[in-house]
Amino acid sequence: MISKIPEIDTVELHYFKESDDRKQVSKIPFLKIIDQTLLPGKIEFLYLSETEEIREAIYLLKVRGAPAIGVAAAIGIYVIAERIETENYEEFFKSFDTTKARLASARPTAVNLFWALERMAKVVTENREAGVKVIKGLLKKEAENIRDEDIEACRKIGEHGLSLIKDGDGILTHCNAGRLATVRYGTALAPIHLGREKGYNFRVYTDETRPLLQGARLSAFELYVAGVDTTLICDNMASTVMKKGLIQAVFVGCDRLAANGDVCNKIGTSGVAILAKHYGIPFYSFLPVSTIDMSLKTGDDIVIEERDAGEVTDMWYKEPMAPKGVKVFNPAFDVTDNELITAIVTERGIIRPPFDKGLRDIMGANP
Ligand code: MRU
Repeated sequence: MISKIPEIDTVELHYFKESDDRKQVSKIPFLKIIDQTLLPGKIEFLYLSETEEIREAIYLLKVRGAPAIGVAAAIGIYVIAERIETENYEEFFKSFDTTKARLASARPTAVNLFWALERMAKVVTENREAGVKVIKGLLKKEAENIRDEDIEACRKIGEHGLSLIKDGDGILTHCNAGRLATVRYGTALAPIHLGREKGYNFRVYTDETRPLLQGARLSAFELYVAGVDTTLICDNMASTVMKKGLIQAVFVGCDRLAANGDVCNKIGTSGVAILAKHYGIPFYSFLPVSTIDMSLKTGDDIVIEERDAGEVTDMWYKEPMAPKGVKVFNPAFDVTDNELITAIVTERGIIRPPFDKGLRDIMGANP
């Protein structure tokens, strides 16, 4: 059993050095990630530099969680761009644009993927006259900015979130919106980590989050090894722990927030929100502003990823858990109606209903 997550960021820009004890010493950058599909059994780092392997890492959830996907895409497209061997802008742009389209096709729902790729593309188009070499340097800077902004945003989200709970509270969380889903602190779990540092003792209930078990494999792991009082439950036990009075708040992340405050998050989130409403428990969604999509009026306009049937019938089990050939519906996300949400917590503050006005106010001229 691994007893600690190493003190490194979930997503990194990496250069091999002699001290890395590897043959492949290089001045050329790599995208470094923890392979989250191997957790909690094994900690293994991946060093990626090719379009298809980075796309696959995102599709297979080796790196996952909306903010981490965005940062991985930004660093990823930079390391690929660094390897484009031409000084000719048109050729460089064509290659960059093809890569961008491939990476963008990895997953459809978390807006951070597209947001980060668009920010990187803007650097290329706005600096055409500067030349390819300068553009590569600017791409590196922008990828680093996106990474640093994520760290800062999550830290602030944690501080705002901490003001919503008190020592000893029971928190239910769904999926993993922790440090493994961002560069460092997490979003929904940032207040828990921060609170732990300050000596608070929260009791966190994490549901398994079928079918890919981000709750069991990732949240339970990262909280448990951080020394947080952690209890794992199956998804269908949420009502029981709420009814028993064990839960004082629900904390979840978000993959895309519509302009009316509808929260798109991991499948099962809306069910937890409906239960919380029934039992009168506050339900909070935590996200950086990079997850807000003001172009979408409501959550109905969000594209929901549907994934392979095998994730439901076979994955994680020694034997298939369903009859071969049975029809399977496997949406990866759902939309929680804004009326079920008590507040939305961002790095710019806590937004309470009416969300459309609150979101317009915090986004202002800086969406
Ligand atoms: O399919 P995943 O694991 O990428 O889904 C992740 C979630 O739904 C998280 O709750 C969300 O991305 C917020 S992460 C800070």
